[in-house]
Amino acid sequence: MELSLEEQEMLDGNYGKGVQIAMKIQVALGDVFNAQRMVPVSRTHVALSNQEADLWFVEKMVSAGAKCRVSPTVNPGFNLEYFQCITTISKKDEEMIRRTRKAYKDVGATLTFDCTPYLEKNVPRFGEITAYSESSATPFINSVYGARTNRESAQSALCAAITGRTPLYGFLLDENRKGQVLVDVQAKIKSDFDYQLLGYAVPKKLKFKTPVFVNVPTNPSAAALMNLGAQLNTAGNVPMYHIVGVTPEAKTINDAFQGGDPEYVITISEEDLEKVHEDITDPGGKIDFALFGCPHFNINQVAHISKLVKGKKLKVKLWIMTSSLTKELASRMGYLEILQAAGGDIVDDTCMDQPCWEFLYGKKGVTDSPKCAYYTKRRNMQFVIRNVDECIDAAMRGEI
Ligand code: F3S
Repeated sequence: MELSLEEQEMLDGNYGKGVQIAMKIQVALGDVFNAQRMVPVSRTHVALSNQEADLWFVEKMVSAGAKCRVSPTVNPGFNLEYFQCITTISKKDEEMIRRTRKAYKDVGATLTFDCTPYLEKNVPRFGEITAYSESSATPFINSVYGARTNRESAQSALCAAITGRTPLYGFLLDENRKGQVLVDVQAKIKSDFDYQLLGYAVPKKLKFKTPVFVNVPTNPSAAALMNLGAQLNTAGNVPMYHIVGVTPEAKTINDAFQGGDPEYVITISEEDLEKVHEDITDPGGKIDFALFGCPHFNINQVAHISKLVKGKKLKVKLWIMTSSLTKELASRMGYLEILQAAGGDIVDDTCMDQPCWEFLYGKKGVTDSPKCAYYTKRRNMQFVIRNVDECIDAAMRGEI
């Protein structure tokens, strides 16, 4: 790879050991992907996981003296103080989250602890070169804003944050952003939940290609686009899609395919959505809880649930995971009070794939998120997946 003088000095260790390690990793990545050079990044997001390998890496960078040039927003671990009030957190898990918080603070991250920073705190412009990890973030950056990011790991995104550079390859290049497969959606897409199923169904037929959607509404909500990207990238490693009339680079089908033809065409029918729904949901029955916010809910989604439960009593506990900013907003607007009066709550800074939920292991809940159900399988949590309104109805009755 051709490096600038400054990049070469980073690699030679003139900017300290931490920067040197980060640049060494990035040069290796660039070599793997045949990148010719590095480019500056203006934004970064690190999907910290509060797991051992994640912590090992960031602590290694801190002890090597690394400090982020482009401070990344970061994913949630769990809200230790909240969960210590409602359950028992082991000493090991407490130490882990404390070390994670400290290490990311010391490396110079912006401690947002949420997985939808692209909605409110880390919002790129069209064409910006960025480095985002987090499965719902990457497609949103590429497909909704028309900014550019590869599907980074937490570690490669952290390296980019530290050096302020990223190797120029993949989705940063015009030619790799073109659509490859035309997805003709014959199923009726009527709600935000339908985008969850669509996102899960498409990769079954796609084989790691960039999809171009036609026949879907051209005025999707932010939540619909979050859902679509999160499920596409969870079920099938799809960091970019085009919706004709929505994606900035896809004003027309011709734009989406950059003047070429699709490699093939797939159709998505009502039956495809029904089949994927059947495959991913656990069967109904008595439920113990309801969990929302994977990805983190925005204020409109919180408002919707608070409207549904206003003046009523839930039979099972309900949690909505969101950012601390959205929780604060929900509190100001009275939604938090309504939810708490019904027996629910909002928890910020928290992901569902964390040990703080151990008290729900072996139990059955409802959620609107296939991603939530997918990741918690290894934690022995069962989820019946339905749209939000059906989930709330189930939470009122204690069964579905
Ligand atoms: Fe967010 Fe964790 Fe789900 S980071 S998208 S709540 S898996």
